Amino acid sequence: MLLSRTPQPNSLAPAGGEGWGEGAPAQEPLAIYIHWPFCRSKCPYCDFNSHVREGVDWARWTRALVTDLDHQAALAPDRAVASIFFGGGTPSLMMPETVAALVARVKALWPVAPDLEVTLEANPNSAEAERFAGFAAAGINRLSLGIQALDPEALRFLGRGHDREEAIAAIRLARASFARYSFDLIYARPGQTVAAWRDELKRAIAEAAEHLSLYQLTIEEGTPFFGLHAAGKLKTPDEALARALYDVTQEVCSSHGLPSYEISNHARAGAECKHNLVYWRGEEYAGIGPGAHGRLDIDGVRHAIATEKRPEAWLMRVETSGHGVVTDDLLNSEERADEFLLMGLRLAEGIDPKRYTALSGRALDPGRIAILREEGAIAVDADGRLRVTQSGFPVLDAVVADLAA
Ligand SMILES: C[S@@+](CC[C@H](N)C(=O)[O-])C[C@H]1O[C@@H](n2cnc3c(N)ncnc32)[C@H](O)[C@@H]1O
Ligand code: SF4
Repeated sequence: MLLSRTPQPNSLAPAGGEGWGEGAPAQEPLAIYIHWPFCRSKCPYCDFNSHVREGVDWARWTRALVTDLDHQAALAPDRAVASIFFGGGTPSLMMPETVAALVARVKALWPVAPDLEVTLEANPNSAEAERFAGFAAAGINRLSLGIQALDPEALRFLGRGHDREEAIAAIRLARASFARYSFDLIYARPGQTVAAWRDELKRAIAEAAEHLSLYQLTIEEGTPFFGLHAAGKLKTPDEALARALYDVTQEVCSSHGLPSYEISNHARAGAECKHNLVYWRGEEYAGIGPGAHGRLDIDGVRHAIATEKRPEAWLMRVETSGHGVVTDDLLNSEERADEFLLMGLRLAEGIDPKRYTALSGRALDPGRIAILREEGAIAVDADGRLRVTQSGFPVLDAVVADLAA
């Protein structure tokens, strides 16, 4: 059993909705993702688009990211922005000036929601924590910290550059510096027992405010962990133990007021990450920076847009052609509906089957729904929403494949 991570990514205000004031947006709000592809060192489990480089040219990178942003604004002009997310890599290695320039540019290009959510992913190293005040001044109002573990041995095993004390100090500084913060932990690590994880999670919850991301360790192809795993030198929990670890995660978080609203994300009511909800609800987002993905509706057709992945090639492309886009695929109704199902069923709120029908032109198979309900993997609420149950989540991929067939 493996719970997949978010591919990259409070409900958004409805179009023309309350709070936007005069000149409310004509279309659904837009989310902006900005990718910073550099890290201090590469963690042995990580297959994100992240690279170690000496001497990044800040001014050049800032100019290029602004240029890429301008291009996306030309593709999606009539929108209002509800969230910005700086992801990585390690965006806390960015200069606060770069972050400030990008936030200001978003505000100059589009109207923004009065409660604009601006998240930045940060590593808890003390050098980066020194920049928290600069990030807050740049407009970041939500910090997402990659804590990964509160167990010293696990932090070493995961190849992290911080220890437990630094992690806790960074969480406390985040609490003092930002209106909102969240942190990530990786569980289902080799040798981890249910009792040890329960204690670690309780310790984490004592430091958490409103949001936690809890990912099961996945062994990604091409990483050092993949090689060790293939050679039998790294053993992940078997299915029964992984299931027990997942169940205790749900139990402890729910009993502390942090139920899951997505397969790996937990929040107090109203404290969900607005930005990531856009991905899971199939709404529109623009992707800026190397290897960023976007979904934009242009002339009524959904575009799946991706930028050049390699940092230096992306930089050159932006400087020579004014944007980093390398693929722009039109999604047909079937592809759009499948994506809606795949992403939406990750959410505790599930999906509205009528929207699936509207996107694909056909209804979900009632026979398959009946079988999955009998098996206890899905439930259909009184309002007709279809959602995966607690016991269905560990086999989510199979449930989605069955419904989409
Ligand atoms: C872009 S990464 C991290 C941001 C930041 N660079 C850091 O490491 O603190 C987002 C999150 O994905 C999770 N993650 C990355 N690789 C993973 C893997 N192989 N298994 C489970 N979680 C993983 C980690 O919790 C990580 O914080
Ligand atoms: S987990 Fe974070 S710090 Fe580690 S390599 Fe991946 S993006 Fe970089």
